[in-house]
Amino acid sequence: MAQWSARSWRDKPIQQQPSYQNEQQLHDVERQLSQFPPLVFAEEIRALRNQLNDVCQGNGFLLQGGDCAESFSDFNAPKIRDTFKVILQMAIVMTFAGSCPVTKVARMAGQYAKPRSSDFESIDGVSLPSYRGDIINGSDFNEASREPDPERMLKAYHHSAATLNLLRAFAQGGLANLHKVHKWNLSFIASNPLKERYQQIAEEIQSALRFMEVLGINADNNATIHETSLFTSHEALLLPYEQALTRTDTLTGLPYDCSAHMVWIGERTRQLDHAHVEFMRGINNPIGVKVGPKMPEDELIRLIDTLNPDNEAGRLTLITRMGADNLAENMPRLVRRVKEEGRNVIWSSDPMHGNTIKADNGLKTRSFDAIHKELRQFFAIHQSEGTYPGGIHLEMTGEDVTECTGGAYKISEEDLSSRYRTQCDPRLNADQVLELAFLVAESLKAARNGEG
Ligand code: PEP
Ligand code: CO
Repeated sequence: MAQWSARSWRDKPIQQQPSYQNEQQLHDVERQLSQFPPLVFAEEIRALRNQLNDVCQGNGFLLQGGDCAESFSDFNAPKIRDTFKVILQMAIVMTFAGSCPVTKVARMAGQYAKPRSSDFESIDGVSLPSYRGDIINGSDFNEASREPDPERMLKAYHHSAATLNLLRAFAQGGLANLHKVHKWNLSFIASNPLKERYQQIAEEIQSALRFMEVLGINADNNATIHETSLFTSHEALLLPYEQALTRTDTLTGLPYDCSAHMVWIGERTRQLDHAHVEFMRGINNPIGVKVGPKMPEDELIRLIDTLNPDNEAGRLTLITRMGADNLAENMPRLVRRVKEEGRNVIWSSDPMHGNTIKADNGLKTRSFDAIHKELRQFFAIHQSEGTYPGGIHLEMTGEDVTECTGGAYKISEEDLSSRYRTQCDPRLNADQVLELAFLVAESLKAARNGEG
């Protein structure tokens, strides 16, 4: 295979990129970014890779989730805190009820670039470039806002740095203390029908902690009791930005994309001979690839071999996003082939992107039942193929939004417009996430006990 460098993707065809008017300005921004400090440290990236190695062997579970798209305007501490808490709550439920260590990876601190199904958007006969995420252009429908602006990359970098700073503070500064698990209820969960089940887990954790304390294991001598690790991730879509944050680690001499711990390639940019696959094959981060229902088996094997030629466990996560109605037909053939060929991958389920529909009022939505159905089948297929369901990938928020229908509160299509706030795709709200956590934990427990 040809020599890789952080810029070798530039010689390949590329999809889903903005065309910047002012090239000089683009170069200036790239130069500045390449001199800024990295957002994450290579040693942390290796720690995630080690955890994912365990997940790949069936000794852990990957929980990845967060916004579809972060935004510059909706950028504040409560929002970061609430999403952090929901990820943590979900992880607690799954660790405890699923009896399985959970690796937490947030779609945060860098999830600013969006692939779009068409380059232009038309409203009332006016056609403008599509919104591609805050790192590229603005969502307001006017010419100035839709013009791609390279300076937005600098802003995305600083927003990511501030978000990461707070996430690290929450993870290590006491918010994740297991002694406080019972206080993590988000205010609106207080009336959630699942509140009692959550409280019961919180109490069981308290009694386990008291038992450990008797044995001399406490927060003073065991960091896992008062802190946690939360990794960051985003879709590596805007390659000038990813290249500028790619650094050679001084300890190992290897290149890492230091914009996040984990990055993934989307369903629209994973062509074998194109730029995104070229970029991703050379960085040493754990990486993900979205896999839709039309993926041919041969192509999947070639993609795996390009991205993970040494077949290392924990390097590659395949994130299936098939849709509840397509999964049964399309996933078994892929899972079977990868198993036959002995390739080490983590199978993770994104039950969101194959289940997007338009409500009667025109809003994009997803139903809780379809999401749950896709997840149930994901676990069932791995069960019957003798493979391991290693993770889930969700679009979710800690906010009390009404973007996905269904769940315990039975959000209807008519309810959607009351708190529909997403920049892009509809997200599960905190109640729906917690509900899903209990349902998934049961499937995970069964998978780990070898039950059907
Ligand atoms: C996403 O994860 O937000 C996304 C666009 O997914 P996909 O590439 O699977 O469509
Ligand atoms: Co999305």
